[in-house]
Amino acid sequence: MNLHQMAEKALALHFEKALGPSAPPRLIAAMRHALFSGGARIRPQLCMAVAHACGTQAPELTQAAGVAIEMMHCASLVHDDMPAFDNADTRRGRPSVHKAYGEALALLTGDGLIVMAYQVLLQAGKAHPERLIALMQTVSDGVGVPDGIVAGQAWECETRADLAQYQRAKTGALFVAATCAGAQSAGADPLPWRALGECLGEAYQVADDIRDVVGQAQELGKPTGQDAQHGRPSVAHELGLGGAISYFENLIDCAVDSVPPVASAETLRNIVRSESERLVPSSISKKYAHATP
Ligand code: IPE
Ligand code: IPE
Ligand code: MG
Ligand code: MG
Repeated sequence: MNLHQMAEKALALHFEKALGPSAPPRLIAAMRHALFSGGARIRPQLCMAVAHACGTQAPELTQAAGVAIEMMHCASLVHDDMPAFDNADTRRGRPSVHKAYGEALALLTGDGLIVMAYQVLLQAGKAHPERLIALMQTVSDGVGVPDGIVAGQAWECETRADLAQYQRAKTGALFVAATCAGAQSAGADPLPWRALGECLGEAYQVADDIRDVVGQAQELGKPTGQDAQHGRPSVAHELGLGGAISYFENLIDCAVDSVPPVASAETLRNIVRSESERLVPSSISKKYAHATP
């Protein structure tokens, strides 16, 4: 089983277990729609790959941490698509949750997934109370205030925002949580793994900004041109496409170079390289490398 399949399986198992039999059926359907719709699952894969590099000692805890982080991510997408934010009709090639189930259930789906993420962590962490406390802190830092997703999304409500701070909070912070949680779930020091999460996470949002300009909605499964339409800070707008592509490439180099000297370092570096190619294929980099703003 590869890392993607492991992440998918763990997500399904934890979701079914946490759900129980008595929840309202339309809420269950909306939560399923949000979680099981073909996401890349990069965050739980990263968490598992780091734990493996640290010598996985508690695979159940690692998987639960990855699942919790993916649930937080999916919750953020549900809320991000709502009319109060980006008002996006599609996500992962399907109607967004509020389009399929209405705004009230979309709000509750996001809330329910955030709480479920903590339930999953708590359940798995009972056997490792010290690791659990560290993991709760790490996951909370990735999603909350002052530097997590909530703060990142809130920069959109300010009249001025620092672009890098906005990008790092809305997307980078959960990648940092993924790498650090991988280490912590294995009983290792998370510090050497922070830089990988920071560089790859920021690269992810820069790639998202580039694809918002040059990508095809059908291919991405979500609308394009959103950043210009909503006046969102975007690296592609600030630096031009050529500048954004070289910024992206620098961040990928930084991610590759920041992999600590572990036995499976080359496997991790290859994950970064293949994500880079998936996000911004060389054909796109070559085509737009010299584009000006
Ligand atoms: C999309 O994240 C939103 C950003 C943070 C850029 P992903 O590109 O990881 O989306 P999925 O999970 O694969 O749909
Ligand atoms: C992604 O923001 C970060 C989130 C916290 C959801 P975007 O608004 O740029 O992401 P997409 O393009 O909708 O996936
Ligand atoms: Mg947004
Ligand atoms: Mg959006």
